[in-house]
Amino acid sequence: METVSVLIPEERVIARIRELAAQITKDFAGRELKLICILKGSVFFTTELAKRIDLPVKLDFMSVSSYGDDMESSGRVRIVKDLDESIREQDVLVVEDIIDSGHTLSFLLEMLKSRQPASLSLCTLLDKPDRRVVDVPVDYVGFEIPDEFVVGYGLDYAQRYRALPYIGVLHFDD
Ligand code: IMP
Ligand code: MG
Repeated sequence: METVSVLIPEERVIARIRELAAQITKDFAGRELKLICILKGSVFFTTELAKRIDLPVKLDFMSVSSYGDDMESSGRVRIVKDLDESIREQDVLVVEDIIDSGHTLSFLLEMLKSRQPASLSLCTLLDKPDRRVVDVPVDYVGFEIPDEFVVGYGLDYAQRYRALPYIGVLHFDD
């Protein structure tokens, strides 16, 4: 069995999302922004962020899977569900739950860049910089966290724990 301990309580997550939204609102002032939510992990983050960005916001969704087990992603990424609409000549902000090795995002950003958006930026709720294998240019980071496996606020372990309202560390006991 596993247990979960609180790493970042809900109030702190919301407070930080409010700050990120204010910064994004400033940086994109006078423009319309398309948020790309990477399913399923960033659903919770995307909706809380979108509500607080004071700009015309559009949403689209993409689902990718990286071959690997539940705890580790590999370099090979596959699109499971593509965007519904074109991003050509639009200001695009990719919203991700966590950057770990960087494999998923580096693949995704290259692929999206080839679709010729006006601009392409990246916002992640969590960043594990110690784990980075591939360099990824991140514009907005919610929290840098240590190298621990986290769940909650959208993040899963084998599809469980996503709906926890806080970010927790998963411990495996025997
Ligand atoms: P990367 O390709 O190694 O950067 O991995 C990114 C993806 O791996 C995320 O979108 C998550 O789905 C998953 N992931 C990485 N670290 C964690 C974690 O600590 N908890 C839950 N999922 C994680
Ligand atoms: Mg996952």
